[in-house]
Amino acid sequence: MDFITKLSLTILIIGLWIYTRKEQSIPTKEHVLDSYDYIIVGAGTAGCVLASRLTEDPDVSVLLLEAGKDDAQFPDSKVPFKAINVLADDAVQWGYHTVPQTRACQSMVENKCSWPRGKVLGGSGTINCLIYMRGDAGDFDRWAGELGCEGWSYEDVLPYFVKSENNANPMFAAARWHGRKGPMAVSDANATYDSKIKDLFLDAARELGFVVGDINAEHSDRGVFMQNQVNIRRGQRQSTATAFLRPAANRPNLAIVTEALVMKVVVHGKKATGVEYKTNDRQVRTVNANKEVILSGGTIGSAQLLLLSGIGPREHLIQMGVPQVADLPVGDFLQDHMYLPLISFPIDEPLSLSPEVASTLSQRIKYQLFGSGVWGHACGIHGHALFRSKHQPRHDKRPYYKLCLLGLAVGGTEESIDTLVKQTNYKADVAKALYGSIGGQHAISLLPDILRPESSGTLRLRTRNPNDHPLIDPGYLTDPSDVKVFIEAIRMAHKIANTTAFRSIGTKSKRFVHPRCGQQYDTDDHWECIIRQMALSEFHPVGTCRMGAGDDDAAVVDPRLRVRGVGHLRVVDAAIMPEVISANINAATVMIAEKGADLIKEDAKLRNEFDRT
Ligand SMILES: Cc1cc2nc3c(=O)[nH]c(=O)nc-3n(C[C@H](O)[C@H](O)[C@H](O)COP(=O)(O)OP(=O)(O)OC[C@H]3O[C@@H](n4cnc5c(N)ncnc54)[C@H](O)[C@@H]3O)c2cc1C
Ligand SMILES: *[C@@H]1O[C@H](CO)[C@@H](O)[C@H](O)[C@H]1NC(C)=O
Ligand SMILES: *[C@@H]1O[C@H](CO)[C@@H](O)[C@H](O)[C@H]1NC(C)=O
Repeated sequence: MDFITKLSLTILIIGLWIYTRKEQSIPTKEHVLDSYDYIIVGAGTAGCVLASRLTEDPDVSVLLLEAGKDDAQFPDSKVPFKAINVLADDAVQWGYHTVPQTRACQSMVENKCSWPRGKVLGGSGTINCLIYMRGDAGDFDRWAGELGCEGWSYEDVLPYFVKSENNANPMFAAARWHGRKGPMAVSDANATYDSKIKDLFLDAARELGFVVGDINAEHSDRGVFMQNQVNIRRGQRQSTATAFLRPAANRPNLAIVTEALVMKVVVHGKKATGVEYKTNDRQVRTVNANKEVILSGGTIGSAQLLLLSGIGPREHLIQMGVPQVADLPVGDFLQDHMYLPLISFPIDEPLSLSPEVASTLSQRIKYQLFGSGVWGHACGIHGHALFRSKHQPRHDKRPYYKLCLLGLAVGGTEESIDTLVKQTNYKADVAKALYGSIGGQHAISLLPDILRPESSGTLRLRTRNPNDHPLIDPGYLTDPSDVKVFIEAIRMAHKIANTTAFRSIGTKSKRFVHPRCGQQYDTDDHWECIIRQMALSEFHPVGTCRMGAGDDDAAVVDPRLRVRGVGHLRVVDAAIMPEVISANINAATVMIAEKGADLIKEDAKLRNEFDRT
């Protein structure tokens, strides 16, 4: 072969390799039938799992309706290191804000915290930071015990975590509580980019007498530190759209329609019979469900849709002029985690990931060819540690806060400040002060996150128009105990940064002077001011369609996820969590959908048997 032939062949092979790594568009349906067995509203984390599992039975037909577009149209969303930028892209998310908060979000424009939620195939799982964390066994045991959700104890839900998972870490995969054969890839954060920062973090844990182990293990008695585990395969994001929906998308019994906003569940005589939705060419259509309507619109979408359909608190529906179908506490309970983005420590060595390093040619080639390097790293997050709090009840063994280890050199440029403002809704002067303090230098951050918030709030309709955002009031930090745990977490972050391990790279405590919190440093009052000004949503809202016992008046759905008092209607997504778990919530949302699919199949079987007799 001459040189030119060799060169052309090489280019062809590389081209093919890149092409096959690119995600193909989902075949969506132009012609929608009049009826399907099941209609799923929302193709987010839960909806994609559900659509895939229900259509395993070729005799069952499913229509999946999603307000957003095909995620294949947003190739950036596949690149883990770009997740933060994707967050600022209006084309893939709803762009919600909270209502003005009285006790938090004080540095945000109009005291409104920003609330990103995915509006795209894969939902929030297409824009999230890919962290794989399941929650504590005690979370689920509490659901099944005190909160009356029979069938949702840790032992009950564990098989569903295992079913969905394909963990690439051989040490974990061998454990009873992990899976190797599921559709959803889980890998170590350093599979794409190994970092000394993570090693020092684990050394710091040992130095302080904490445990280095599996955060997703069955039980943990003390603080546990672990390198980050992520939903990444060969350097590409594994949302449930990738892992579950794409492999099922060509099944003849599955119809997928994107850019379809569901406006209402149609209910006749206390039974859901279908939905009304608006297409991207503004036509309104009604489609019928022979068996069930399943809402997987997420904590905001599912609750808003129930309210629009007349299922919600009586007083509120009267006030909004929506005819009542069922009096249920939809949106009465809304809970979220919060985190503080600024506990950062400059370091002497150039160890943190930065846009500059990422933009080098070698990093680009590495990623294009092998899916490795900086671009394959999830948001620059290297590890996590979970802790008990001195403020928590003694009998409660769950972690009350966590620290997220970030090794990211954020920019200090005008452009990066604009992006920060867009993502957080911080007032411009505050964003400037923050990046003036921590921007443009190598640093580690230990971001505190409160896992068991006592504060909660509500979700209500703003108007009867399905296009209008609802009123989101998470009631952030209205319970003072949340601030106490937050302060404890901040102190723990400083303790970890001051270990011999971390001091070996010259960690220094950096003072971020907030324009409205004074010069006083390290007092409780100072930290409380910083927290109330600066803390952000950690993007884990739950609870608006709470699950509970069938006769529990605080519950919207029963433990089989059926909307109480309305037939043929379920909610299957993060909204049903009766209380937020002590971890990031994506993995648990996948679990809910896995279990939800089984509940639906079981009930259909029972109904079939009943019909035959
Ligand atoms: C920026 C960000 C970072 C995060 N990071 C992590 C992380 O690293 N790890 C982790 O575990 N969790 C993380 N989370 C949380 C996690 O991703 C979400 O909680 C999870 O995806 C929720 O799944 P869901 O199915 O309940 O809702 P979603 O995934 O939000 O899906 C709901 C879907 O329904 C659609 N929809 C809503 N209403 C309608 C309607 N009326 N008609 C048609 N379609 C509708 C929406 O467009 C959306 O696609 C993060 C979330 C965000 C936003
Ligand atoms: C990732 O980290 C683990 C634990 O420190 C280490 O054993 C492993 O070799 C690392 N993997 C890569 C690819 O660097
Ligand atoms: C850091 O630790 C050293 C001892 O290991 C101690 O003398 C010093 O006060 C600590 N610094 C801070 C800021 O806590």
